[in-house]
Amino acid sequence: MARNATNKLLQNAKKSKSDEFYTQLCDIESELQHYKKHFKNKVVFCNCDDPRSSSFFTYFASNFNDLGLKKLITACYQKQEVSLFNTNKAKKGFFSEYSEPNTPLEIKEFNGDGDFRSSESIELLRQSDIVVTNPPFSLFREYVELLVKYDKKFLIIGNINAITYKEIFKLINENKAWLGINLGRGISGFIVPEHYELYGTEARIDSLGNKIISPNNCLWLTNLDNFKRHEDIELTKTYFGNEAEYPTYDNYDGINVDKTENIPMDYEGYMGVPITFLHKFNPEQFEIIKFRKGNDEKDLSIDGKCPYFRILIKNKRIQNKAQEDRKKTDRQDYVCEKAG
Ligand SMILES: C[S@@+](CC[C@H](N)C(=O)[O-])C[C@H]1O[C@@H](n2cnc3c(N)ncnc32)[C@H](O)[C@@H]1O
Repeated sequence: MARNATNKLLQNAKKSKSDEFYTQLCDIESELQHYKKHFKNKVVFCNCDDPRSSSFFTYFASNFNDLGLKKLITACYQKQEVSLFNTNKAKKGFFSEYSEPNTPLEIKEFNGDGDFRSSESIELLRQSDIVVTNPPFSLFREYVELLVKYDKKFLIIGNINAITYKEIFKLINENKAWLGINLGRGISGFIVPEHYELYGTEARIDSLGNKIISPNNCLWLTNLDNFKRHEDIELTKTYFGNEAEYPTYDNYDGINVDKTENIPMDYEGYMGVPITFLHKFNPEQFEIIKFRKGNDEKDLSIDGKCPYFRILIKNKRIQNKAQEDRKKTDRQDYVCEKAG
């Protein structure tokens, strides 16, 4: 087999492997504590979860009254083993509808495999208000597209790289999605199936014997409001006097800022910042202009070299202040003219 094809197979295997990362209850609790007010009287749908084992199910079932939920729907996909020698009948996906705490779990079968894109699962999606889960990483774009299509509120786990997908960045740019509270090391790790090899320095076996892998490269993506997007980033640096630390781009009228904490407080123009800026982004403080590309639609470059992906932003507060100052001067000029 050609090397490219082998690489592709390996990449796909790696991708679908991370589809079997199961979320831990501690990580769900740590994020969900910030959104309690959104759940009152709502129907929650976990559409990539086995109600018998998912920590998302455990979280919502055990906090059902506390959150004031109306209903919890949990649906599980059954992957079909397709092979010449497999004569087994197609496996059916299944789901549960839970609206009465402390009652036994009732499992109902789908006619099909329970794929989140199937008409049966979409019918459940239509009935729900908020979707909360960790969907298959390899189908992330499609997954988010479906939630947007059906105009659903969501709080989901994805890979940090997802920010760089143009479909996901578009949502962030349009203020239709933003990052949750926890990111990277803030998500402690995922339970993987028994047969997985443990890799990475932080891989471990927990007290219950679960294999845990900490990829430290995940985030929560949501369109539920949270406190963080109303907090200003504290700016301590200045551009004027330190111009050499902020080189300008070859192909865009803006300066490069290497770390979010180095964003200067006194720069009115465009600034390119790392994608981790989004974790601290307050739309009242900054405006997102563009992602990654300069005026020539090539990657932003400085003296011919491209730094990592950058997001172009503008400080709204300086612009507002500049406008106000201009208005004030105009008013003063007018009064002086009249008096004179
Ligand atoms: C990253 S795992 C997370 C599982 C669970 N949501 C959790 O957080 O513990 C993604 C899950 O999606 C399931 N899955 C894969 N493809 C799917 C599809 N097309 N529709 C629904 N679920 C799917 C996988 O079987 C896997 O259980």
